[in-house]
Amino acid sequence: MRCRYLSLMGLFAAALFATLNLHAEDAQPDPTSGGRYEFREDHDPNGIGKFYLGREIAHVMGHQGIQWLERAEREEEEGLTQLVDALDLKPGQVVADIGAGSGIISLMMAKKVGPKGTVLAVDIQQEMLDALAVHCKQNNVTNIEPILGTTTSPNLKPGTVDLVIMVDVYHEFDMPFEMLSAISKSLKPGGRIAFVEYRKEDPAVPIKEVHKMSEKQVRKEAAEESLGLVWLKTFRKLPRQHVVFFEKKGG
Ligand SMILES: C[S@@+](CC[C@H](N)C(=O)[O-])C[C@H]1O[C@@H](n2cnc3c(N)ncnc32)[C@H](O)[C@@H]1O
Repeated sequence: MRCRYLSLMGLFAAALFATLNLHAEDAQPDPTSGGRYEFREDHDPNGIGKFYLGREIAHVMGHQGIQWLERAEREEEEGLTQLVDALDLKPGQVVADIGAGSGIISLMMAKKVGPKGTVLAVDIQQEMLDALAVHCKQNNVTNIEPILGTTTSPNLKPGTVDLVIMVDVYHEFDMPFEMLSAISKSLKPGGRIAFVEYRKEDPAVPIKEVHKMSEKQVRKEAAEESLGLVWLKTFRKLPRQHVVFFEKKGG
């Protein structure tokens, strides 16, 4: 009898889950975002079925992917040294590495900003920040501050950051407009944002489609008037990615 009760409960739960799931997939505009986002039933399996300005948002890379982020061939494949040089960092600056992962880029930038500068390493996965803390300890690095963010805010103080960088991250934000609003607020006037994304324009870049972004799409999403950002330049010399720079108005 108890078993039957449990299986009936199971059937009920499955039906409820299916209904909720169906509801989520069928929903057109997202009612909680003023229609900014939409959900589509027909979508890339590597995406979450949620779209922003025509682009499907990708699944977040789990902390189980740390080995891939730290692979030895990454320098050659992505030109990390060239990337960090292109940021034109100065000693004493405050840089926010949003979606820092296990901190490969944070560690490189920490050297550039020096002991008087700070790297704010933000991630939504505590496991990533824990891996970063191990690297900092091993390398005696004391100018990286780990920050646990949320999907709507990197939890940074307003008007305090010289440069925000997102390396292979922005396309994973499930609330991109909210994140960009909060990021823009964290910048000093004249502060910069660097979007580093795999080039969608280039079919030879061996990355899943929803994990790539075209320069045109990045510029479309950052152009929203209320963000107060202006496009500065695009660095196109990396092997697989482009770096699209914006400046906060008022500098
Ligand atoms: C592909 S990894 C890139 C890690 C690092 N930037 C690198 O290149 O080594 C993407 C990271 O972005 C993080 N992420 C996704 N959404 C985020 C959000 N809303 N705020 C902060 N981090 C986020 C994920 O947890 C993950 O660690």
